[in-house]
Amino acid sequence: MLNIVLFGPPGAGKGTQSVHLVESYGLIHLSTGDIFRANIKGNTELGQMAQSYMDKGQLVPDDVTIRMLESEVNKHPEAKGFIFDGFPRTTAQAEALDVFLDARSTPVTCMLALEVEEAELKARLLARAETSGRPDDSNPTVIQKRIDVYNAETAPVAGHYALQGKFTGIDGIGTIEEILDRLKVAIAH
Ligand code: AP5
Ligand code: MG
Repeated sequence: MLNIVLFGPPGAGKGTQSVHLVESYGLIHLSTGDIFRANIKGNTELGQMAQSYMDKGQLVPDDVTIRMLESEVNKHPEAKGFIFDGFPRTTAQAEALDVFLDARSTPVTCMLALEVEEAELKARLLARAETSGRPDDSNPTVIQKRIDVYNAETAPVAGHYALQGKFTGIDGIGTIEEILDRLKVAIAH
């Protein structure tokens, strides 16, 4: 079982690279942001609750997010492995994921952290706002809030996996193919 935590700030390329990693390794891609957005589109109770946080660039509360993620994993008993994209985003989420996966004897294999500087992140997100329809892309104040929340609450999660010897930083600047190659080299190690 190959369980990859694909980590990085907003706009680092997690979603973009996940598509290619799924093709190469036959994994199930679980993006908590995508799942929340699907719930918003479907106007579910979960979607309505998540939207109030996402539109402001804040994190959805841990208890709801953890429950949702676990239920998504449970939907795929035949999976060869998972790419966790945008999860865990807090130390509490990382600890809950450890407990949950340890109970299944399928621990996280590695955390691959895409590293991109802030000016490039903002440029990518503002460019994507033209086409994404994501309310959290179109407002520079919300983009800044997402980056600030990442630095304050999410960046420490890297330390959680570093302590387990599972952290690898990946240069997230370059073409999509170049970055994919770097990810594959890290997975092979
Ligand atoms: P989420 O959907 O996870 O958004 P995010 O982390 O803010 O980041 P993005 O999805 O915008 O970026 P990405 O790294 O996937 O980059 P992408 O490949 O799209 O979360 C949204 C919200 O949901 C959160 O703010 C929070 O409210 C909530 N949420 C989600 N998970 C949660 C959790 N676990 N706990 C609590 N709340 C949670 O690329 C970005 C752009 O750059 C694209 O246009 C792409 O084409 C372009 N690009 C990609 N690669 C390159 C490259 N190499 N060169 C140039 N451009 C590139
Ligand atoms: Mg994404």
